[in-house]
Amino acid sequence: MQNVSKALEPDRSERDALLREISNYSNEFIEALPDEKAFSNEKDTPGAFKVNGKTKSIEEIITLYRDEVAAKGINPASGGHLGYIPGGGIYSSALADYLVDVTNDYVGMHFSSPGGVAIEHELLDWMKSIFGFPKSSIGNLASGGSIANLIALTAARDKHQIKNQRITKSVIYVSPQVHHCIHKAIRIIGLEDVVINYLNLDDKSRIDAEDLQLKIEKDRQIGLNPFMVIASAGTTDTGAIDPLMRISEIAKKHELWYHIDAAYGGFFILTDGKRAAFKGIEQADSLVVDPHKGLFLPYGLGAVLVKDKQSVYKSHVYRANYMQDAVADESPVNPADVSPELTKHFRSLRLWLPLQLHGIEPFVACLDEKLLLTTYFRNELKNIGFELGPEPDLSVSYFWYPIEDGDENEFNEKLLKELHKDGEVFLSSTIIDEKFVIRMAILSFRTKLETIDKAIAMIKRALIRIK
Ligand SMILES: Cc1ncc(COP(=O)(O)O)c(C=O)c1O
Repeated sequence: MQNVSKALEPDRSERDALLREISNYSNEFIEALPDEKAFSNEKDTPGAFKVNGKTKSIEEIITLYRDEVAAKGINPASGGHLGYIPGGGIYSSALADYLVDVTNDYVGMHFSSPGGVAIEHELLDWMKSIFGFPKSSIGNLASGGSIANLIALTAARDKHQIKNQRITKSVIYVSPQVHHCIHKAIRIIGLEDVVINYLNLDDKSRIDAEDLQLKIEKDRQIGLNPFMVIASAGTTDTGAIDPLMRISEIAKKHELWYHIDAAYGGFFILTDGKRAAFKGIEQADSLVVDPHKGLFLPYGLGAVLVKDKQSVYKSHVYRANYMQDAVADESPVNPADVSPELTKHFRSLRLWLPLQLHGIEPFVACLDEKLLLTTYFRNELKNIGFELGPEPDLSVSYFWYPIEDGDENEFNEKLLKELHKDGEVFLSSTIIDEKFVIRMAILSFRTKLETIDKAIAMIKRALIRIK
């Protein structure tokens, strides 16, 4: 058994050889990115990844990875990924992931990795200072925005004791533009039967705060229990920032839990140009912001901040006999006490290490660049005859090609299909006011001026093909 299991502990020269192969491939991958397409329509090969107990060499595995994983679908590492909400994947984060996977620190409890947990707290404190949250707030680094929102909404539920008969009388106010993970979270936490009251939007797809005020009053009059309002600082569809300050005043007046989903847009607060648009974010009871979006990290890091510690503890603190050694009276907050996760990936290092290596300036410069590129892309689109959605608050916007005869939606759908066939740059679509529109979401750290020029050239090619 000892002999056979040795394979799980390669020696130094074997480790070096494995790492060399992975590093060589990673370098080839990164260097090829400027010439690679951002999207391929090619489907997976059935049976390509069979797990049948047989072994493969690292070279074979890398070839399979290159041909069957990296070459198909969207290439999220490409600067040409302008669809959905791009991530990016800075290299220094990947190195941090490698390191934590080797040391395999257990960061659910302070006892088991005081250093690892301290890094998580340091980052959360840093975010508290960015978003004007008090130091006494609680936070967690989750796997992404969906889980982070889930933690926040659970806290709101427990603070307001929304259970049993109260559920069907309780009201959550949301924008029709709220991210769908909010609806998912509402269902997961047992609030499926709550009243969801959709708010009117202005012509920039932002919540009409006065409508919120009216709706709360009306709901109270008919005996309902308004308990939470959810705003977005950067909606997924249009990059809109809701009127955060005005909503906070209304939420306070009516004693509502105020949650802000800033998963996509939050880190734009670091830019001089956009800081003012986030005024009011500090008033939220809970906030979600995703470093794997706005700080260009590889997928796998979303953060939640909540001001009321007890409301988070209520649903997440559990003790078990087998954990007795790991619990101390005087410990900093244990990440496992503020999240559904017990064992968790040591994900804080993938943000901490890049911040230590690069400082914050390159991140802010990149965010500023994305805002400029959004304006540039919109201007170029206008020059070639596209209609544009309203000027966006951030770096997500939409456009469509107007046609005189025929179905405009059909035409733009056809155009998007052509763009996907081409794939040099990847764009996605959405429906705004029953209109099929093409979206641009400029957030990858690798998206540059050349990328936008490429996108315009690709769009011109597609138009010629289908006109
Ligand atoms: C505004 C917003 N909130 C939440 C999410 C969900 O985050 P995640 O995909 O990291 O779970 C997204 C994803 O794009 C988003 O744009």
